[in-house]
Amino acid sequence: MSDLLKVHLGDRSYPIVFGEDLTAQVHAIAAELAFGGRKIAVVTDRNVARIHAKALRVLFGESPTLAVAAGEGSKSVAELGRVLEFLAACGLDRSGVVFAAGGGVVGDLAGFAAACYLRGIDYYQVPTTLLAMVDSSVGGKTGVNLKAGKNLAGAFHQPHGVFIATGFLRTLPAREFAAGAAEVIKTALLGDGELFAKLEQSPLSPGDARLAGVVRRCCEIKAGIVEADERERAGEGGRALLNLGHTFGHAIEQVTGYAQYLHGEAVAVGLCAAARLSRRLGLIPDSDVARVEATVAAHALPVRVRTALSIASLMAVAARDKKARGGSPRFVVLKAVGRASVVGSVAPDAVEAAWREVGCS
Ligand code: GLY
Repeated sequence: MSDLLKVHLGDRSYPIVFGEDLTAQVHAIAAELAFGGRKIAVVTDRNVARIHAKALRVLFGESPTLAVAAGEGSKSVAELGRVLEFLAACGLDRSGVVFAAGGGVVGDLAGFAAACYLRGIDYYQVPTTLLAMVDSSVGGKTGVNLKAGKNLAGAFHQPHGVFIATGFLRTLPAREFAAGAAEVIKTALLGDGELFAKLEQSPLSPGDARLAGVVRRCCEIKAGIVEADERERAGEGGRALLNLGHTFGHAIEQVTGYAQYLHGEAVAVGLCAAARLSRRLGLIPDSDVARVEATVAAHALPVRVRTALSIASLMAVAARDKKARGGSPRFVVLKAVGRASVVGSVAPDAVEAAWREVGCS
């Protein structure tokens, strides 16, 4: 059984299809494209290629497949070049279609390749991780990291469709599941206080009967935000809200060389830092900070950095964040559990204090 949610973006609108197993639906699209003479290329990572070898064969038959190394290191300009050369070697013309089958790294990388190749071809997202299902596969943000920072090169390129088969989560390693839960907690914190309360009362687990509903709810919230501000241009609120915890999180990922924290783990610490900053700015009480930290910890996620990181380095990196204006970082803060807002010109003292409170020095 499958269920559908539409992302309304005019001629860039597309469906998000939900189900436990969407083999028939993905296979039908791939077969229809091939029948119409359109070449398909699949981008995945080596873990997904190994664990889901059979499923990928059923979905895409003998379609050419590129499996990049798993992990954030593949979100690079060098790997983007390899994906583009792969698409060219497969002989894709402008009617060609890319399927991104994997987690956030694969989706961002393959989506960006689809945005660049021949100045833009169609692609579909087939997320296999919780993080990609609730966040990165929806909304059309694609890109790679630069030495100067996370996601600093990319394009808004909406997928043609997103197939969220929650059955993939059965084989997801516990650490990856927890990392995805960080984006679920983020979404609840910025847009659904009731969902947060449910996560707080009982943390999500891989076999959770609520999982499909929670994934759908996160996509619903994200779709609404993206529909209202596709290119993150709103002066107040808008799509930037989806970056709650990310100014802090991206800085942690970057100063640790993308090697120590999964994206979701860095976001988890970032959510705690954002809560602490919100508290310092007088927006939420201590009790809300405690709720955020307890919920993050209950999902097996870090509330503090694992080893002390230099605040000066983190502040320098955050100044180059995409949301920064004139070298001054903007932060997404909580106004309440379930409601967020974007603030600029935050006193550096308050930011430094938030970094200190999550274990930096
Ligand atoms: N992950 C944040 C966004 O899609 O805007």
